[in-house]
Amino acid sequence: MRAGTVVLYTDQPERRADLVAALEGLAPCAVLAAAAPAPPPPVCGLVADLDLLMPAPFLGLRTLIAAAPDLPRVFLMRSMGARSLSAARGLGAGVCLPADTPAATVAEALRAQDPDRGPDRGVPAGGVTRSAAGPAPRSEAAGRGRPLPGAAVVVQAADRAGAVIAGLLDAARATGTVDAALVEGGLDPVLRAVEERGLSAWLDTVRAYDDATYQHCLLVAGLAATFAIDLGFTERDRQRLVRAALVHDVGKARIPLAILNKDGPLDAAERAVMRDHAALGHAILVQAGGFDDTVLAVVRWHHEHLDGSGYPDGLSGNQIGDVVRLVTVCDIYAALVERRPYRAPMPTPEALKILYGMDGKLDMALVRAFDRAVSRT
Ligand SMILES: [Fe+2]
Ligand SMILES: [Fe+2]
Repeated sequence: MRAGTVVLYTDQPERRADLVAALEGLAPCAVLAAAAPAPPPPVCGLVADLDLLMPAPFLGLRTLIAAAPDLPRVFLMRSMGARSLSAARGLGAGVCLPADTPAATVAEALRAQDPDRGPDRGVPAGGVTRSAAGPAPRSEAAGRGRPLPGAAVVVQAADRAGAVIAGLLDAARATGTVDAALVEGGLDPVLRAVEERGLSAWLDTVRAYDDATYQHCLLVAGLAATFAIDLGFTERDRQRLVRAALVHDVGKARIPLAILNKDGPLDAAERAVMRDHAALGHAILVQAGGFDDTVLAVVRWHHEHLDGSGYPDGLSGNQIGDVVRLVTVCDIYAALVERRPYRAPMPTPEALKILYGMDGKLDMALVRAFDRAVSRT
């Protein structure tokens, strides 16, 4: 292993002496409680042995992963059920193993991810389930083999961007504020995955996310990246658009989960509550500081329409800037094509038809450009 500490986040340290001993064979091991902050660098590996279904923000763990997306890591799972795997994915899990995996196998799984081992990363005896992000890992969970390298690239990118979104939403939910610096770790993975593997691979991977908000934000980010690349934006402007897309719905962290995760269409009263997310998100980011005007505008105004029929401020025409208009198109399209428990994803042609039907509300020049961008990939 590279120089540094192996961190073991555990909520049952008294039962993990064997694991600590095995990890000490790799590098000095720091045993931390679930709520402990991230330790100082260098850190060369991470093992999470936590009940992920507990309502805890795991901020130290998230910070560690966001700061070093390539950090070798193993999540020991109390359950391999969909909810637990979804929670692991939201935290940015790497390899997921059952909690009763022998300590030596856990250590080997960590060592096998060490970048110094080169491209042929070993898989420990006994088998490994990569985190359940996307269709390929789901297949693995069912014991049907490893993902193709191309799929793995997209899965890893979605994991990283998903961890950013999870970190933002959890922090906003728990503390009412967020860390602007955390978002930066999500930009490149989205842009590179879309550029190298295409929008379809991104949509297929992200649609497998169980959590509707993560799925939606990742879809909007991938669509924004595709749009920006197709429009020939500079790298800086591509990042600007993806940054805004990733955080655009941060206000949903303050919406009651019963409404946010409802298994069916919202009624009028619930829709009214849901609409608050735009102004709430804006307030969270203003208070947090560190977000530029573009992000603030997108978060507050991505539900505004050119004819003044949108919310929260009823802006119209030129009051709505270009970047906001771009994200609005991506946002509406994402809502149509995402997978929901109560309806199948809408096919691309139908979703585009709905966008074209919003003449007067959306910028049609942008809708046509968006059509070209998503139809090309
Ligand atoms: Fe929204
Ligand atoms: Fe949205």
